[in-house]
Amino acid sequence: RAMAILKELDDKCGTPLGKLRQVADAMTVEMHAGLASEGGSKLKMLISFVDNLPTGDEHGLFYALDLGGTNFRVLRVKLGGKEGGVVQQEFDEVSIPPELMVGTSEQLFDYIAEALAKFVATESEGLHPEPNRQRELGFTFSFPVKQTSIASGTLIRWTKGFSIEDTVGGDVVAELTKAMKRKGVDMRVTALVNDTVGTLAGGRYYDGEVIAAVILGTGTNAAYVERATAIPKWHGPYPKSGEMVINMEWGNFRSSHLPITEYDIALDEESLNPGEQIYEKMISGMYLGEIVRRVLCKMAEEASLFGDTVPSKLTTPFILRTPDMSSMHHDTSPDLKVVASKLKDVLGIPNTSLKVRKVIVDICDIIASRGACLSAAGILGIIKKLGRDAPKQGENPKSVIALDGGLFEHYAKFRECMEDTLKELLGDEIAEGIVIKHSNDGSGIGAALLAASHSQYLEEDE
Ligand code: BG6
Ligand code: GLC
Repeated sequence: RAMAILKELDDKCGTPLGKLRQVADAMTVEMHAGLASEGGSKLKMLISFVDNLPTGDEHGLFYALDLGGTNFRVLRVKLGGKEGGVVQQEFDEVSIPPELMVGTSEQLFDYIAEALAKFVATESEGLHPEPNRQRELGFTFSFPVKQTSIASGTLIRWTKGFSIEDTVGGDVVAELTKAMKRKGVDMRVTALVNDTVGTLAGGRYYDGEVIAAVILGTGTNAAYVERATAIPKWHGPYPKSGEMVINMEWGNFRSSHLPITEYDIALDEESLNPGEQIYEKMISGMYLGEIVRRVLCKMAEEASLFGDTVPSKLTTPFILRTPDMSSMHHDTSPDLKVVASKLKDVLGIPNTSLKVRKVIVDICDIIASRGACLSAAGILGIIKKLGRDAPKQGENPKSVIALDGGLFEHYAKFRECMEDTLKELLGDEIAEGIVIKHSNDGSGIGAALLAASHSQYLEEDE
């Protein structure tokens, strides 16, 4: 019976190239629709107000704050123009206490402001910005935001593990600014960016051929550089560069071509945001382990995989985290001892047979591969939208895509499967011109660079 459930899972999660092409095409169609009008698609295609990516001339001392990944971080970056480059000077990283993710807005922003206050207070002497100048901050806020300018925007909704009713609809920069006042921090947010936009900016700083950024982490999303003329819903001033960075919020993509299973449906229904972020729930780090847990539950209930009773820990949502899944998936020991120890330590299931452990590795493989293939299809969708899948004769532009996030960084089989699948989808010739590049914490540096190019002191400095 367990084998039958496994076989069914494998069939339902299948991602043959033909299906992935349909997903990519659907992504391209939705991109067009989302750019055409507000609410035109599940893909929000948010306008970032970033119409100039870093040039290398940025200079000065800037701060960045990064909220929305696994960890919350504060960093200080010294930008030295073309000569001096970027020097990351100090760095602080803490995890957000889970209760703050579902508490009140004030609690969350106070916590952030306190961390900033602490960071500034412990700064080494001599590192302060020039006298009479306010410290300036790039705020990476990795949730869907309707920007009203480069340094303001209202939260459309929370995603991932956050759910704080009173923040929704409000300006997150105003919230942070109020909290900084309460905590006595004199800093000004000069850029508010999504992590994808920060990663794109950071990536572009080091490599002029970066055209898009993708996050594969707790959540998943992408941003890319669009021609301003291709954004009918944009009625603001025409950007001098002729370009605008778009935050796709692709986590909310959905399509009838997605290989959805009963486990995905149940996960979604019981989630903090039912009906939303369907693509994200099939791909990203917050959810992969949880899907595996759900499959194991079914096997325990219907095929007595772990004996006569269902192990009680196994019924706890989110107990099996994606890093644990990844360790099991990468277990190369002949008797799968990593799988055995994870089962014991994480799920309280001792004494499993090798056969059972093998089934578990297979489940991890099916779920991770599906996510990896779907993310490759999403990237193909962007490449198609930009026409870079069929360059004109004689032209062979290189397109670099900056990637970041814990899933991409630490889950090797996921990353390899994503990269291989993208190559297969593109075909050898085109694949040569498309480069996936890990942009390690590019978003922090990107946010600092954007803070610099929107500094209130820019004119004085010129
Ligand atoms: C980091 C970026 O490296 O990756 C963050 O700097 C981003 O901005 C994060 O949010 C996403 O990864 P994870 O795995 O922490 O969600
Ligand atoms: C979620 C957020 C999105 C973010 C992504 C990656 O999808 O909605 O804004 O970019 O996670 O962190």
